[in-house]
Amino acid sequence: MERTFCIIKPDAVARNLQGEILAMIQAAGLRVVAMKQIRMTRRQAEGFYAVHKERPFFASLTEYMSSGPVVCAILEGDKAISRYRELMGATNPANAAEGTIRKKYAESIEANSVHGSDAPETAAYEMSYFFNALEITG
Ligand code: CMP
Repeated sequence: MERTFCIIKPDAVARNLQGEILAMIQAAGLRVVAMKQIRMTRRQAEGFYAVHKERPFFASLTEYMSSGPVVCAILEGDKAISRYRELMGATNPANAAEGTIRKKYAESIEANSVHGSDAPETAAYEMSYFFNALEITG
């Protein structure tokens, strides 16, 4: 069993797509073991995406991620990190495969509807950034 961290981003929440995206995640066999809807401050978004702080899109990305509510969740399953990344599809929706969340819902490379951890170390950092132990169910 493995856990990964998921965000349903502001563009998707603004279009009321939380349920549809969660249905795709659950249909793929991943279980939600923690979940909440929050609105990040700019500072919180900068902390979350600290690994990207030298990237040219950092300012725009953190402004966008703090522009409206998001749903944060922890997903559990066998090979959850790679399976959820496959389900999300490519970062740029123009390159996302048919049947993926980003192909179906993403608006642009930035407003790409969902985030997922890319490795066990980032998953651990991201889960602990948003959830404490009491908020994670087994
Ligand atoms: P995410 O998987 O959350 O990781 C970093 C985010 O930066 C990415 O999704 C996009 O929302 C955003 N982003 C904006 N421009 C780019 C870009 N050129 N390359 C990668 N990510 C980008």
